[in-house]
Amino acid sequence: MNDSNRREFLKFIGVSSIGLATFPLLKGCSQLPLISNKGTFPTNEDELILRQGLNYQTLISWGDHINKSEIFGFNNDYINFYELSPTELILWVNHEYVNPLFVSGKERTKKNVDIEKSLVGGSLIHIRKKNNWNLVESSKYNKGIRGNTKIPIAYNMNIKGTTLIEGTLANCAGGKTPWGTILTCEENFDNSYGDRKKDQKEVDTKNSYLHWEKYYPKNIPEHYGWVVEVDPLTGNAQKHMNIGRFSHECATCVQTKKGNVVVYSGDDHNDEHLYKFVSNHSDSFKTGTLYVAKIENGKGLWLPLDIKKSPKLKKEFKSQNDVLIYTREAAKVLGATPLNRPEDIEIHPHTGHIFIALTNNKGKGDMHGTILKISEDQSDYAALSFSTETYLLGGKTSGFSCPDNLAFDKKGNLWFTTDISGSALNKGVYKTFGNNGLFVVPTSGPDAGKAIQIASAPIDAEFTGPCFSPDQKTLFLSVQHPGERSQSLENLTSHWPTGNIPKPSVVCINGPLLDQLTQG
Ligand code: FEO
Ligand code: CA
Ligand code: CA
Ligand code: CA
Repeated sequence: MNDSNRREFLKFIGVSSIGLATFPLLKGCSQLPLISNKGTFPTNEDELILRQGLNYQTLISWGDHINKSEIFGFNNDYINFYELSPTELILWVNHEYVNPLFVSGKERTKKNVDIEKSLVGGSLIHIRKKNNWNLVESSKYNKGIRGNTKIPIAYNMNIKGTTLIEGTLANCAGGKTPWGTILTCEENFDNSYGDRKKDQKEVDTKNSYLHWEKYYPKNIPEHYGWVVEVDPLTGNAQKHMNIGRFSHECATCVQTKKGNVVVYSGDDHNDEHLYKFVSNHSDSFKTGTLYVAKIENGKGLWLPLDIKKSPKLKKEFKSQNDVLIYTREAAKVLGATPLNRPEDIEIHPHTGHIFIALTNNKGKGDMHGTILKISEDQSDYAALSFSTETYLLGGKTSGFSCPDNLAFDKKGNLWFTTDISGSALNKGVYKTFGNNGLFVVPTSGPDAGKAIQIASAPIDAEFTGPCFSPDQKTLFLSVQHPGERSQSLENLTSHWPTGNIPKPSVVCINGPLLDQLTQG
């Protein structure tokens, strides 16, 4: 993007200033060593390459048994945990989608579809730390919540009369509730079951390359695109309609001063929207208001998606249930602002600001994305208005492109991963960025405010789901879709992690550099 396009783009996303936001300066964290283990960043090697002072072990890979009858699913993404003790966790890991080349076969047979359904959703795995973290193999907590698990809709709500849904899928990022359960978000469900608009009879299957609808026509698209809550102790799950239905990237929870739980979520499609749900409760999503963002010149409004408050919605929708099922259409009726693919959202642990990765929008000339910062008015998460500024701009100058998953450590350093699509990696405007990476933005020291690459992913892969252990001495990280562009099993583009067939895996990163960044 040239400078004038960039100015237009910033105006478009409602950004008033280009300057970097200033974090409060915190003690600690000196300049990072510049040389990685095997070379300098960026790189296009088929390896997980870490900056000097870090090392990794593979915790679990697709295909590893988690109990007698289930294996760890494919394309692991979001990671969070329930803490049994500082050295014993029940880890939740999303499984976003499958690649038939590796897991089943490209023929759309029922047998292949059934295999695929069993490998998406998520896994609960009990892990324990001795020297390294390892799976507790016979643990009662180890189980899958998958594309074939029966999941009820919360609070006796219904979707076209149905109260029990088959499966969760397309589980991208997520969140954790104040009461300790895990939220897992259904994103690109249309790749499996298609989608349709409010008044459309037939399911539109143009995006359904997996064609699960062929064998499961009762699994209508409206059953997916929700936030799903999982109890990590029991594996019980429920789908929440009140948080709306769209390509949910994440569901980031925070509490107002009064204790009400607020959930921020982005719809990761070109020109889709940013949402927040403000619950009337501190311990459930039972009732509350779903809002969508309208942003202009650095100021924003939260517009209630509430049929009782909007004559426009009343005219277009039969019921509030329909507003929740066809959230995207309702948002457009209210005039919500189109954004450049909102991905992950995180709350700064010290300032309370809301950070949102807007990954890119190629159709609008935004090739490299931004990280947006939102301040709610009066620092109130239930506020109806807010202001925005760009925290970081992707591009050659900042050294990263297409930010996706975010995480803060307790010191307030921002960690993020990048997701340049497989077909674009190492080509054209993306050539200088090498493979996808993990970056940290220190909040203090000589590198404060700079995006510094920490790790480089194997060929075709992206890092997803960064999650710190309770003592922050381990960073759990998903390595998703290594070798995704392989045309056949004989012609693989990646052999990570074992030198054979590529396997999506969760790794544990630790070492003195992580301690230096996160401790103290
Ligand atoms: Fe699954 Fe929006 O990344
Ligand atoms: Ca993502
Ligand atoms: Ca995150
Ligand atoms: Ca992405």
